[in-house]
Amino acid sequence: MSKRRQLFVYLIIGILATAVVSGCISQKETTPTATQAQKEVLEIYHWWTAGGEKEAFDALAKKFQEKYPNIEIKANPVSGGAGVNMKMILQSLMLAGKPPDTFQVHAGYEMARYIKANQLSPIDDIWTDDMKKNYPDVIEQMVIFNNHYYAVPINVHRANVIWYNKKIFEKYGIDPASIKTIDDLFAVAEKLKKNGVTPFALGDRNKWPATQVFEVMLVAVGGIDYYQKFINGEISDNDPTLKKVLEYFVKYIEYSNPDHAAKTWDEACAMVYKGEAAMTLMGDWANGYFKAKGWKPDVDYGAIPIPAGVYDLVIDTFVLPAKAAHPDAAKKWLSFIGTVEAQNTFNPIKGSIPPRMDAPADPYDPIQKAFMKELKSPETKMIPSIAHGSAVPEAFAADLNDIISELATSKDVNKAMTEIINAMKKDLLPNKIKEWKLS
Ligand code: GAL
Repeated sequence: MSKRRQLFVYLIIGILATAVVSGCISQKETTPTATQAQKEVLEIYHWWTAGGEKEAFDALAKKFQEKYPNIEIKANPVSGGAGVNMKMILQSLMLAGKPPDTFQVHAGYEMARYIKANQLSPIDDIWTDDMKKNYPDVIEQMVIFNNHYYAVPINVHRANVIWYNKKIFEKYGIDPASIKTIDDLFAVAEKLKKNGVTPFALGDRNKWPATQVFEVMLVAVGGIDYYQKFINGEISDNDPTLKKVLEYFVKYIEYSNPDHAAKTWDEACAMVYKGEAAMTLMGDWANGYFKAKGWKPDVDYGAIPIPAGVYDLVIDTFVLPAKAAHPDAAKKWLSFIGTVEAQNTFNPIKGSIPPRMDAPADPYDPIQKAFMKELKSPETKMIPSIAHGSAVPEAFAADLNDIISELATSKDVNKAMTEIINAMKKDLLPNKIKEWKLS
């Protein structure tokens, strides 16, 4: 099949998928009541369909409806973690000139494509002085392009976390406080393996969970300065640190469930929940997942940031498409997202923490409270996530997803190394729009 034809097929699939998703919604609305007919509509696309994510979005939407009873939310949740499927559907909607009124997108590079194509409106008027005062600069900077604000962040997720089953740790006498570095983690994995326990649950069917493991290895093995060099595209051929990072990645795979390529991120979390694996490296949306299952944080499961002292930022935002059919309703949504009230409704359930530094900590669980403290500490080093759209141009992130997920099966480190350096030259450097300075 020619490339053009392939693209066409993708578009058709995208449009069909949209029809299927919105089909469920319009079915409900075939016989609108008088009040429904007068309501302003707000169409939202997002990908929060797994345990914890869904409940968090529903609570957020409910709170918004309480404030704006005359706006009717038409939510289009498209399953597939990290937006793998939603992004494709959105592209076809954008091409057709029929975007939703707002949609979920990661802060940083992931937004660049839409801005370059003039598909988003700047929202400088939404960013009040109160918001500017209370969002950390590093997060604010990730939604500013050409001196204009383009998105409102709803949360701060952390990608570099090991989630563990407390019963298993207790059974084998493992002290979670003894795990601070990647080598500490592998020492524990070895002990578990010797006892016949699968150390890590992984579900990289959608590729990005493997890339997320890779990015954690990048900072855990190479340190912050090396991570910065990597996302700025400054790695030379045959770089020995990159080789070591990839070897650590392969080691992680060897301690993981052999069927990792068949599972999704939440299916991997389910393995930890059921006691089929001891740990999983996942963002703190896993916290939302475990809570939705009825597990108690710090009682049934715990969290260990790897490496300690690093906060790998994953930031979900909402934006205003230039061709939104209901921009007034969308602007109300965006202003709402920027409030403590919205953030403290959503994040306690989602597993993330609020980006507003003035949000009170009482609705949060002990893991989230500890993370909130860490984010505020000047000792903590923040890094933008590669796998979740912030740190590198989208084309390079897509290359990495392919290269790393293949490496997870082939374990051919030398091949992956050459491919990463080539992709950096082809897709990172030519699309670079900023120089990261992390320390
Ligand atoms: C991330 C997103 C999180 C969570 C996760 C799994 O990309 O930022 O909010 O939803 O994907 O779907």
